[in-house]
Order: sequence, then C-alpha cells, then structure tokens
Amino acid sequence: MAKHTILTADRPTGKLHLGHYLGSLKNRVRLQNSGEYDNFIMIADMQALTDNARNPQKIQASLIEVMLDYLAVGLNPSKSTIFVQSQIPALNELTMYYLDLVTLARLKRNPTVKTEIKQKGFGESVPAGFLTYPVSQAADITAFKADTVPVGDDQEPMLEQSREIVRSFNSIYRTNVLVEPKGLFPQKGHGRLPGLDGNAKMSKSLNNAIYLSDEPEVLHQKIMRMYTDPKHIHVADPGQIEGNIVFEYLDIFATDQAEVTSLKQQYQAGGLGDVKVKRYLEEVLNAVLTPIQKERKHYSQDIGEVYRMLQKGSLHANEVANQTLQEVRAAIGVNYFDNK
Ligand code: TRP
Repeated sequence: MAKHTILTADRPTGKLHLGHYLGSLKNRVRLQNSGEYDNFIMIADMQALTDNARNPQKIQASLIEVMLDYLAVGLNPSKSTIFVQSQIPALNELTMYYLDLVTLARLKRNPTVKTEIKQKGFGESVPAGFLTYPVSQAADITAFKADTVPVGDDQEPMLEQSREIVRSFNSIYRTNVLVEPKGLFPQKGHGRLPGLDGNAKMSKSLNNAIYLSDEPEVLHQKIMRMYTDPKHIHVADPGQIEGNIVFEYLDIFATDQAEVTSLKQQYQAGGLGDVKVKRYLEEVLNAVLTPIQKERKHYSQDIGEVYRMLQKGSLHANEVANQTLQEVRAAIGVNYFDNK
C-alpha cells in the first residue's frame, strides 16, 4: 500500500518560538523519523505575502530563519522534502482552477479568515489575495496529494474548505485525481503553550514569546519578567499554582516532575520565592534550548548551503506538483496539446 503523505507549512513572518516547538515541530520531527510517511514541509512565503505585500524584506529575512529553526529541531532534508511555496508555479495554476469552484460568500464565511480580518483591522479593504488564501492552501495540500495535515485547531476551516474543493473538483470533472485531506490535531491539553504574560497563546504579535534562538541571557530576562501569582508579594506568603504560568511551563517541560510537585507544595505553603522557581525554570528551558541552538549555530555558519537545501527540496516539490497539475489539466480538458 502507498505511504500516507503529510504536508505541513509555516508562514515566514519571524523566527519560530517555543509554542511552535511544543504544538507542532516536535510532533513533525517524530512523524518524519517514524518513516511511515512521505513528508512535505513548506515555507509558505506567498501566503505570508497576502498580508505583507508591502513588506517583502520581512518575509525574505524570515525564510532563512524558519529554515534554520527547522534544521535546528531535527527536520531533515534527507528525510523530508523541505521547499519554498513561491518556487512552485503549479500551485498558482491550481489555485486559479479552484477559485472557480468557490463562492465569494463561502470565502467570507471562513471563521479563521474572519478572525484574522478583524485582528488585522482590514475592514472592507481586505486584499483579495488574503481572502482567497484558503483556496491557495487547498492547492498546497492537493498538489502533493497530502492526506494527512498536522495543524492547530485554527486550521480546521482551511481543511474543510480544501475538502469541499476536492469533492467539487472530483465530482464536476468525474475524476479521482484530488485527495481529501484529514487534519491531524494536537491532543487535548497538548499543543497550546501560554504566553509569558499569561495570555492563552504564545505569539509573535502579542510579544510574549520565547524564541528557539533566544540566547541564555535573553531567556533569563524573559523568565524574570514572567507572569506568576500577582498576590504572591512576600516570599513567606502562600502562593497560587492555578494560572501561574511559571508552573504551567514546568508541568510541560520539566523532566523531573517529582521536583515540580515538591516545589508546588512549598510554594503553596509559603516560603518559596518566585525567583527561585524561575531559576529552576531557566535551567529546565536551557536544557531544551541548548541542543537546538547548538544545531542552529552549526547550520548558520554556511547559509549558502542552507539555501541550496531549500533549492533542492523545491526542485523535487516541483516534480511532484507538476505531475498533479498535468492530471488536473487533463481532468478539466485543458491539455489540448497532449498526444497531438
Ligand atoms: N495557514 C497555515 C498557518 O498559518 C500555513 C499554511 C499554508 C498551511 N499552507 C498550508 C498549513 C498547507 C497546512 C497546509 O499556519
């Protein structure tokens, strides 16, 4: 039986952070190394441009940062096809065909896009490319016939829209060229890392993130500013564990959970200061980040080589996407010059 195919992607709008690591990268490395899948990993620079068209330098700079983060955590170009969206022309042609199968009303109903339009303050001035990016995302997924798409919950509407497009396409053109993708979602309780400020989500735009590339000194500063129990003023005061982000991080990242339990007991009884707990968290997070940063440094010494890896991945991705495009053209009947 043919292997399942996975596609994952990130918009290159900055470096990747611990939230990405916990919610996605770690799992992707595991799936990659299981050897059970054909893996495609895409840097979605065109999708990033849909709301950054006037700021292409940001995307350009982030492309290599994201790739370095990938390599640093163990995504591996000899096991996965790692490529750049803008270098795959077939995606754009697929998008054009799919756009004819989607109504404007349907695009406007996509809940994730709706939220983003509000967050970004677009109002009626939403770029057409932004409103239609879920269709382009359907092209990303179907070009590689990915049946498994590991994503966060906010991406479910994209997958739903992709499945609708696949079903319309296959039924209108009486074919089975396109494959319906299924989401692979983080288990409940896993996946979402709160921000340093106690916000439910770690995110670049909220300015509450620990980046994979944050050096120990930066990490120290960030941890010292972290949100704890606002009522825990004196060391002797009993402290609260619930909603205390420092302990939430320890729950997630500490390998010695017996130590965490003991710290919690002391903290709740009173007599354990926030700084002590934070120093322990610093140790724990350094243990996670140091090996990642060592790899990152190694790869960043030869950026030319990193670009070559992306170029090679993009070459292979082109072959696969072009094959699908040919099948799509034939299904629609716009392959006029084949066999003539
Ligand atoms: N929209 C995704 C995000 O913001 C990125 C993305 C682009 C993607 N194309 C994709 C994800 C295809 C999965 C499949 O994170």
